[in-house]
Amino acid sequence: MAHILITGGAGFIGSHLCGKYLLRGDRVTAVDSFLTGSEENVARFSENKNFTLIRHDVSEPFPEIDKTDFVLHFACPASPVDFTRVPLEILRVDSLGTFNALELAKKDGARFLLASTSEVYGDPLVHPQTEDYWGNVNPTGLRSCYDEAKRFAEAATMVYLRKYEVNTGIVRIFNTYGPRMRLDDGRVVPNFCGQALRNEPLTVYGDGKQTRSFCFVDDLVDGIMRLVDSNEHGPVNIGNPDEHTILDFAKFVVEAVPGTRSRIEFVPLKFTDDPKQRRPVIARAQKLLGWNGPKVTLKEGIAKTLDYFRARL
Ligand SMILES: NC(=O)c1ccc[n+]([C@@H]2O[C@H](COP(=O)([O-])OP(=O)(O)OC[C@H]3O[C@@H](n4cnc5c(N)ncnc54)[C@H](O)[C@@H]3O)[C@@H](O)[C@H]2O)c1
Repeated sequence: MAHILITGGAGFIGSHLCGKYLLRGDRVTAVDSFLTGSEENVARFSENKNFTLIRHDVSEPFPEIDKTDFVLHFACPASPVDFTRVPLEILRVDSLGTFNALELAKKDGARFLLASTSEVYGDPLVHPQTEDYWGNVNPTGLRSCYDEAKRFAEAATMVYLRKYEVNTGIVRIFNTYGPRMRLDDGRVVPNFCGQALRNEPLTVYGDGKQTRSFCFVDDLVDGIMRLVDSNEHGPVNIGNPDEHTILDFAKFVVEAVPGTRSRIEFVPLKFTDDPKQRRPVIARAQKLLGWNGPKVTLKEGIAKTLDYFRARL
């Protein structure tokens, strides 16, 4: 039985990771400040004797914790609305929080995994994105508190690998969706699903021609667990290479909600530097981890996500 510490364990992705590791028979400690996560996400594990929840801001030094085998650093708000709501907290968790999590891994001799993001590619000039593309990021724009902070977190992770030989890995996560996202979190999947279920207009920012690729959370978690189990340092892209325009995706969601009276409404772009296109090259994940891309189709994944949101409305 391994001891897995997951920062941000009460968040969307973190809570799915907790569930999968508990299912595997591991011991899981989730450390979360509940800035964007919720107790509801982890309430289902409360009876499990292998699960511990610690309410703590990981930008502050960690409390005393039993020796860990793996430290998975997932704490960080990830929605564009958070980039203006809690930008300082994002900068802190990706800098100080990353140092604290790396220090813990160093002390325990644990393997460390950083949850990085496709946002490190910024508004990419290379398409699709391979891991060796350095990105096109505006260092002073509205998104920079997130993009640049994650780039800093990657740099810090690589320093701990090179200087202290901490066994680190970096996963670059592309847009992921599924149950336990917050309906009001401002990302496109909860936005469109919530709007379609409430018969409100689906708000498409700009002309809707910008593209994204959406990966169902179970598939992402499978890729992450493979990376954790490997000794690969990465970075490794995990995401869906199947790309859609936002406008097509809006139409898709409307069709997935029979009887909805929602129509599509175009509104001005909310953020500058909105990436025009995003699609991962997953060859590295295929070669190193045997992860061959998502198994859950967009239709199945959106249906499961809609069921979750329906129950919440
Ligand atoms: N969901 C995606 O599509 C996506 C894409 C790329 C990268 N990521 C990365 O994956 C990770 C998880 O994202 P998510 O979508 O689950 O977001 P989320 O907001 O649901 O989860 C983040 C969790 O971190 C917690 N947290 C934030 N700051 C903290 C702090 N200082 N101390 C302790 N806990 C803190 C929050 O309370 C929340 O539970 C993030 O690092 C994010 O950058 C997510």
